Amino acid sequence: MTPGERDARNAARIVSGCFLLSAAGAIALIVVYWRGGQPQLEGTFLAVAFLSLGIGFVVWAHRLLPNTPRVEPRPPLGTTPEERAELIDDLDRGGVLERRRFLLGALTSALGAIGVSLLFPIRSLGPQPGNALDHTPWKKGMRVVTSDGEAVTAKSVPSDGLVTVFPEGFPDSADGQAVLMRVDPSLLEGARGGSEWAPDGLIAFSKVCTHAGCPVGLYQSSIHQLLCPCHQSAFDVLRGAEPTTGPADRALPQLPLMIDGDGVLRARGDFSSPVGPRTWNLS
Ligand code: FES
Repeated sequence: MTPGERDARNAARIVSGCFLLSAAGAIALIVVYWRGGQPQLEGTFLAVAFLSLGIGFVVWAHRLLPNTPRVEPRPPLGTTPEERAELIDDLDRGGVLERRRFLLGALTSALGAIGVSLLFPIRSLGPQPGNALDHTPWKKGMRVVTSDGEAVTAKSVPSDGLVTVFPEGFPDSADGQAVLMRVDPSLLEGARGGSEWAPDGLIAFSKVCTHAGCPVGLYQSSIHQLLCPCHQSAFDVLRGAEPTTGPADRALPQLPLMIDGDGVLRARGDFSSPVGPRTWNLS
């Protein structure tokens, strides 16, 4: 075997190795995605798939294809039998044609696996939400609990702070989370729902900001303002959590409450309106 043939064979091994590594990266990406996904791993495997594919192409172009300068005399423009024989020889050089089948097979595997992995994100689109976003887990009579699942009693709510609460059985509910506060009941006269929705001055609103969905987790009890730290929207607790400043343009939905015979807080039903930003449904 001549040195040129040996070099071509090594190059072919590198190229096919790159393509097979690319296919392996794409298959690993599919597996990670299928098992629930992990953004860092998915990014790594996607990079491996494309990087090895690119390196394979570069090595193929530089070491397996003819790359010497060619000078074609003019005239004559026709080719002699010797030139034709040379061309055929070039196409066959280094045994590339014999290895081409294997290289093309490896390349097809890499492109096929990458193609399939690119189709998978379509699955993430999922079914259309329909009106599912208009409802949360809150139902009439459902107990109000903390994130630990402890039932919240009327007595346990402080007058100078807020408690984050959830519907019983849904401790991690993103759309069901609410902030619960205690205010002087006389200040709520004329407010939406009045004492019927806020017994003994216990009042609750959705914790999901109506601007862009951040958690509204700050409460200034002295001025009865709920604050969203993301873009500084403020909501007036005494006026149905209407926005008073900041980019939010819609009130926080209120959770109507009642107190049962054991002093435990329960919901009278779902929030007064759909929670969160409405930019997805402005029609
Ligand atoms: S998300 Fe609350 S103000 Fe922007």
